[in-house]
Amino acid sequence: MAETDQIDKTHRTGIRIEGLKKRYGGGDTAVDALKGVDMAVAPGEVVGLIGPSGSGKSTLLKCLGAIIEPTAGRMTLGDHVIYDNAWKITDLRALRRDKIGFVFQAPYLIPFLDVTDNVALLPMLAGRPNAEARSMALELLDALDVRHRARAMPSQLSGGEQQRVAIARALVNRPPVILADEPTAPLDSERALAVIRILEDMAAQFATAIIVVTHDEKIIPTFRRIYQIRDGRTHEVAGLGIPADASGQGR
Ligand SMILES: Nc1ncnc2c1ncn2[C@@H]1O[C@H](COP(=O)(O)OP(=O)(O)O)[C@@H](O)[C@H]1O
Ligand SMILES: [Mg+2]
Repeated sequence: MAETDQIDKTHRTGIRIEGLKKRYGGGDTAVDALKGVDMAVAPGEVVGLIGPSGSGKSTLLKCLGAIIEPTAGRMTLGDHVIYDNAWKITDLRALRRDKIGFVFQAPYLIPFLDVTDNVALLPMLAGRPNAEARSMALELLDALDVRHRARAMPSQLSGGEQQRVAIARALVNRPPVILADEPTAPLDSERALAVIRILEDMAAQFATAIIVVTHDEKIIPTFRRIYQIRDGRTHEVAGLGIPADASGQGR
């Protein structure tokens, strides 16, 4: 508790990754997925992460999200070092629950909860009264254009609707860091751009630092900064920074 409280006070200073390495397995079959990654994301910034399949994008997000343990390097969330050749935080579950919003390639909704409760569950677990948690959920469902499905069960939704509900769930606790792995893959162009607009609004409004892994050509031009990962290392490449509503079909 005390550890994550400390992050609370300082988390609005973004993400920093220095010399991050990850080796899977050992001996002859070891795979060096990350060979020394450096990356920084300021609060309020949405940064793109691109790279060929197998280049280490998901590995990087999983390390940063404390889902897997790196092999070496340093990761800082705000002024708080969470990893420095070893975890510097004991309660990794609290870190994941309170500080990091994940959007995965597959939505992973809870099948026996309706759409609203899938999104409201996290604020409820964080101690919000049920009515307040539900109204926070509905607000985001509205912004993501799925409020009309609020009482539906996940199995009744299309793939795109499920993904938008999963995005609402990642945003609902206003985490200081959002990690999104191919969040717009199942969405059409207009909805993909709407998701990017919501992430940008979220970043600006709450000083959230956001990393979006993507191959999606619809959204790549929207990033002002892009990191490319190749052979286990990151390189910054120029982003175009074309606003996601430049197409004139803004909401
Ligand atoms: N659990 C694992 N065990 C062993 N190797 C893995 C594991 N997960 C990923 N890898 C390997 O690490 C490399 C990077 O994978 P990944 O991070 O999934 O890449 P990307 O997301 O860019 O496609 C690949 O060579 C992949 O085969
Ligand atoms: Mg991947």
